[in-house]
Amino acid sequence: MPQTIAVLDFGSQLTQVIARRIRECQVFSKIYHYSTPAAKLREEGVVGIILSGGPQSVYAKTAPHPDAAIFALGVPVLGICYGVQLMGHFLGGHVAHSKAREYGHGHLAIQKPGKLFAGLPRKLRVWNSHGDKLTKLPPGFRAIGTTDNSPFAAIEDTKRGFYGIQFHPEVFHTEHGVDMIRNFLLGVCGAQQDWTTKDFIAHTVAAIRAQVGKGRVILGLSGGVDSSVAAALLHKAIGKQLTCVFVDNGLLRKGERDYVEKLYGRHFHIDLRVVDASKLFLRRLKDVSEPEQKRKIIGATFVAVFEKSLKSIGHTEFLGQGTLYPDVIESVSIAGNPASLIKTHHNVGGLPARMKLKLVEPLRELFKDEVRRVGEALGLPREVVWRQPFPGPGLGVRVMGDITAEKLEILRNADAVLHEEMMASGFYYKVWQSFCVFLPVKTVGVFGDERTYDYVIALRVVESTDAMTADWAKLPHDLLQKISGRITNEVRGVGRVVFDISSKPPATIEWE
Ligand code: XMP
Repeated sequence: MPQTIAVLDFGSQLTQVIARRIRECQVFSKIYHYSTPAAKLREEGVVGIILSGGPQSVYAKTAPHPDAAIFALGVPVLGICYGVQLMGHFLGGHVAHSKAREYGHGHLAIQKPGKLFAGLPRKLRVWNSHGDKLTKLPPGFRAIGTTDNSPFAAIEDTKRGFYGIQFHPEVFHTEHGVDMIRNFLLGVCGAQQDWTTKDFIAHTVAAIRAQVGKGRVILGLSGGVDSSVAAALLHKAIGKQLTCVFVDNGLLRKGERDYVEKLYGRHFHIDLRVVDASKLFLRRLKDVSEPEQKRKIIGATFVAVFEKSLKSIGHTEFLGQGTLYPDVIESVSIAGNPASLIKTHHNVGGLPARMKLKLVEPLRELFKDEVRRVGEALGLPREVVWRQPFPGPGLGVRVMGDITAEKLEILRNADAVLHEEMMASGFYYKVWQSFCVFLPVKTVGVFGDERTYDYVIALRVVESTDAMTADWAKLPHDLLQKISGRITNEVRGVGRVVFDISSKPPATIEWE
């Protein structure tokens, strides 16, 4: 067991972000239930404890409290937000409901840098989110930083190695937040920096083996980043006990199925079952033009096809999934934390519950950029690890209105041209998404001496960091000219190419 930083989880939605920041400092950490006995933490070689934030008030009847003995373990403790209030409450200070709830940006003035703020500027913008605050210091503590609203925004007891901060160092909006955490880990706890992506892989491989034993794992491979990295990791752990199912729904891009077969089947030697269900999908989608209806049909058909393929594979106990932390952040409690459940995560259409499958989710605690690093370390090619997002319903929501094989073929060919040019120019990896949309509108043109009457293709190329907002990408005119020229010349059935110059909001990234 490597030496460990324990993050006690009091139900904050940011607990996993704290763990992520610790990983960024290359230190090993584990998230524990808030009530974990101090004796267990000692047994596990814990060299420092971080108390997370939480939604409760320390005085509430249902407030989660830690084992008081953690303060007598002789290891440093850092309390964040609710965590510092707990320190006040347990160690003889006083916490009161604050009249002004502090939410959002605040200004921290550091009076005494000490170990926690070593090397940092004296004035920092920090991010707050709290209702209660410390009003009296516990004995042995002194204030080292203040905000407008809080004379005890940062406190320390250097003798015991106890530190508390009222704001959130783990969020991106707090300047030098990760440096504060690093200072605590290295300067106060003396933790070793020996936790890397390679260690994560080794640790996860061992955990998968322990969970699965001799059982069989089925994974629905889409070819996207998450399911690809999950497949590669599971394969490394359990080899032939993993079966991947790739469903060709007829709504894939050009060459996609071939690529997946070559990469995973032939290169990685994964037991890959490709199910060609394209005819079934197209039949069920016939004459359906309403976007949500299309999505429902595609989702339900996928589940039916996947379920049928499971039956043909034989007895299976486990379903592998490439779930990432942002997928669960609002949905379930990690390591049994008491965070209120906001929404239920949609597993593959409720399959695990109905088929009594146990989930194996090796990426469940990672963020996207960490998953990409794991993918690279596992030897997945750049075009998989850095692939642009592609919606589950695929080209089904990029053919406007009703879907036919002919329209799909036109879209696929146009999209392949765009993809080639984006790759060749290097813009593919610079933008968030670049794709074609099929518009079922015929317009007049001339080709040679002939009058034509053909469809329209829209190019949608956007920049974004999280898909919540997006701006249309300002591609060079000569590149646009080349793409448009190639599509109208090479793709039969297209007479006109337009470029979408709408931002999100008000437009969405996809057209449907
Ligand atoms: P919008 O169009 O809402 O898209 O701006 C935001 C991001 O989500 C992707 N997207 C989907 N992904 N199923 C998915 O798995 C869907 O039905 C779906 N609709 C949109 C979209 O490609 C973009 O990255």
